[in-house]
Amino acid sequence: MSDISDLVRNSIKQITPYSPGKSSREVKEELGLSEVTKLASNENPLGPCPQAIQAMQQAASDVYFYPDPLCRDLTAALADKLDVDPDGILVGRGSDEIIHMMGLAFVNPGEEIIYSDPWFAMYPITAALMDARAVTILHRDFAHDLEAMAAAITDRTKLILISNPYNPTGTIVTAEQMSEFMEAIPDHVIVGFDEAYYEYVDDPDYPDCLDYVREGRNATQAGARAV
Ligand SMILES: Cc1ncc(COP(=O)(O)O)c(C=O)c1O
Repeated sequence: MSDISDLVRNSIKQITPYSPGKSSREVKEELGLSEVTKLASNENPLGPCPQAIQAMQQAASDVYFYPDPLCRDLTAALADKLDVDPDGILVGRGSDEIIHMMGLAFVNPGEEIIYSDPWFAMYPITAALMDARAVTILHRDFAHDLEAMAAAITDRTKLILISNPYNPTGTIVTAEQMSEFMEAIPDHVIVGFDEAYYEYVDDPDYPDCLDYVREGRNATQAGARAV
C-alpha cells in the first residue's frame, strides 16, 4: 500500500515545518519558574483585557449558531476606527492566516513573491503553498534593502512582503523610506505591510501604511494593530 505522504503536493513536501519553540508553560514547568514572557511570539504578557474576557463570556452562550463569516459588527467598528472602507477589511485569526490568504487570493503558480532575507517563516511557506517563486533580497545593515527589492520586480512579480518592524532584526522602515519605495511600485504588484510587531515601535518616523490603502494603492496591511 502506498504511503499517503507520497501523495502530498511536491511544493508542500519542500516546506520546512515551522518550529514555534517552547511555550511559556513548557519553560515554566521545565525550569520551575513562575513567570515567563515569550518575546519570540506575538503574545501579550499582560493577558486579555477585562472587556475582551467579558465579551467572550457573553458570546459563549451563542456558539451553537454559525458565527457571522463576514464579522460585520467587528468590520464596521474597525472601518470606523481606522477610517477605511469596510469592504477593505478582512478579519482573520492572526496575521499568519491573512498572509496565507494574500497568497491564495492573488498569487498564481509561477508568479513571484519578494521578501527579505532573513525572513519571517510564513513567507516561504506561503510561496511554496502557491507554487510561487520566492525572490529573496539580502538585508542591508539588518534593514530591508528596499532599493534592491524594487529593482527585483519583474512582470511576474505579484506580491512584496515587508515586515515592519523587521522580524528578526527589529529595524524599521521609516515613513520617508516607505514613500520613496511605494513610488517605484507598479500597479501589477501588491505590497503587504506586515505590522505584527507594531506595538513595539515608538519611533515617530514609523509610517501609517494604511494611508496607501486609503489612497487606493494595491497595498494590504496585515498586522495585529492595536485598535
Ligand atoms: C513578521 C511577523 N508576521 C506575522 C506574525 C504572525 O503574527 P500573528 O500572531 O498575528 O499571527 C509574526 C509572529 O511572530 C511575525 O513575526
